[in-house]
Amino acid sequence: MCGIVGLIGLENVTEGLVNGLSHLEYRGYDSAGVYVDTPGAASFTVKTKGRINDLRQEIEKTGDVTGFRGIGHTRWATHGKPKTENAHPHTSYNGRFVLVHNGVIENFKEIKDEYIKDEWLQGETDTEMVVHLVAKIAEEENLSAKEAFKKALTIVDGSYAFALADKEEPEVLYVAKNKSPLLVATGEDFNGVCSDALALIELTNKFVEIKDKEMVTVTKAGITIEDLAGQAQEREAIEFSITANDLALGTYEHYMLKEIEEQPAVMRNILANYVNEQDEVVVDPAIVEAVTEADRIYIIACGTSWHAGLVGKNMLEKLAGIPTEVHLASEFGYNTPLLSEKPLFIYISQSGETADSRQVLVKTNELGYPALTVTNVAGSTLSREANYTMLLHAGPEIAVASTKAYTAQIAVLSILANAVGMQKGITAAQNFNLKNELSLVANQMDSFLNSDHHLQTIVHDMLLEARNAFYIGRGNDYCVSLEAALKLKEISYIQCEGFASGELKHGTIALIEENTPVFALITAAHTNLQTRSNVQEVESRGAKTCIISMEGLEQEHDALVLPHVHELYAPLISVLPTQLIAYYATLERGLDVDKPRNLAKSVTVE
Ligand code: M6R
Repeated sequence: MCGIVGLIGLENVTEGLVNGLSHLEYRGYDSAGVYVDTPGAASFTVKTKGRINDLRQEIEKTGDVTGFRGIGHTRWATHGKPKTENAHPHTSYNGRFVLVHNGVIENFKEIKDEYIKDEWLQGETDTEMVVHLVAKIAEEENLSAKEAFKKALTIVDGSYAFALADKEEPEVLYVAKNKSPLLVATGEDFNGVCSDALALIELTNKFVEIKDKEMVTVTKAGITIEDLAGQAQEREAIEFSITANDLALGTYEHYMLKEIEEQPAVMRNILANYVNEQDEVVVDPAIVEAVTEADRIYIIACGTSWHAGLVGKNMLEKLAGIPTEVHLASEFGYNTPLLSEKPLFIYISQSGETADSRQVLVKTNELGYPALTVTNVAGSTLSREANYTMLLHAGPEIAVASTKAYTAQIAVLSILANAVGMQKGITAAQNFNLKNELSLVANQMDSFLNSDHHLQTIVHDMLLEARNAFYIGRGNDYCVSLEAALKLKEISYIQCEGFASGELKHGTIALIEENTPVFALITAAHTNLQTRSNVQEVESRGAKTCIISMEGLEQEHDALVLPHVHELYAPLISVLPTQLIAYYATLERGLDVDKPRNLAKSVTVE
């Protein structure tokens, strides 16, 4: 979703801003812009619909866009179409204030009706109301930028990360946040702000976290944080462990392929972080205790993370013996089911910033229920606001289509389930040699990824002309089918459904016609024959089928046989070909693999 970068103190901030925005491209956006100025010299606002490269060209056309202070933005449209007028930064009616914003202003209509004149508006965004509001308050009440901004924040409802420049105070940036992520970056002779550390990691690895309803004054010399009541807040900078190298594509053409191929290393990294030298699984005892005490686990997540939760449920029930429900965050928040007496909530989120999940966390925190966040991003909002965190240790995931985070989420949930099961003396956990089984997964992942799997040919034969497709399976294979279908549709735009294979005959089989592509996943002995008979049913109605089975269960004519792993870990292997199918189908169609249309990496609005 939208991205913010701000810098103050460098000889020329323009390149730092544009470079920072380019590191936020992965989040998804449709337009971009920057504002830069220097005390006593010219100021520049350059913005455009399109990509960062388009912005670079606009900057070149404008000529000599240099400045001591600046703010930049990538916009993912919520209010108003993607077009230059709606791109940020927005300037106030009197030209004094310039603002960038991430989030959604819920009461923008009320603000417009009460404070804003129609002739002030350049575009259709909610953000514009705020920059005019600040200017109007400052003008009419003769307040400083800081006081006017603070007052405006008491009027604004919704989610926001703001960075504000006042042309009358060219040596200061003001920032504020509520529900949307924002970090302050601290450097040797500059300071900055960003919605994601990746934006400024080439300049510094020191960041200060900002909490909701706080406002920060950023100058070259330092930062001061205060709450909206004016109370000063002291906070040290944290050193982030990501490096500029984590952003490098190396020899890869796309982040998605790089991240798919990183999965064996991620599995080994997870083992290194959660298994000790005595081969024992080590999880924070406070987490194990909290989960052990729960009478039911509620997993809350969205998209791919929700799919990982479905697989995690099986592990938590089998290894830890705790009934587990898996809920879509966007549904749970508004249709909360009857809860058990001692629930524990697990929030699964790669980014740790997903607004749908966060709104549930805020609610369960209010109700006093314990919460554990399983995330890839240390210090993310969901991590900070939950009682406990387990990290994925997967390294930054840049491609919008989540791949390594999915397998890491499943692996980390298995570690939690095993640790709790051992604590409770559950036989299934005692008999499960996690270290060996997960090491085997890493090795088998390697051997599959390095094998001659012919997936490009399979994709060509199955999907070249396809408008729609199906993945089918039972049990965990059904869970992976859901993820496989999401992957294919989100990047190749082929409409695809994941389906419980036994359920097809209850309606969906009506969609099968001559040459409809159907991929079947078969990794469990107890459902092998049943899924195969469902494959026959679709074949006899004209479907073009492709069976992906696991060693030991294969039959003649299976298109792909995956190396064998423990049944509980089968999703970690069976998802690999489906990720590659999505990748190759997208390449074949000439589409943007890493930045699919309409999507954002980190979905920070509800
Ligand atoms: O950061 P999160 O894991 O909370 O994100 C949840 C979903 O938005 C995300 O998994 C999305 O479905 C992916 N683009 C799928 O590839």
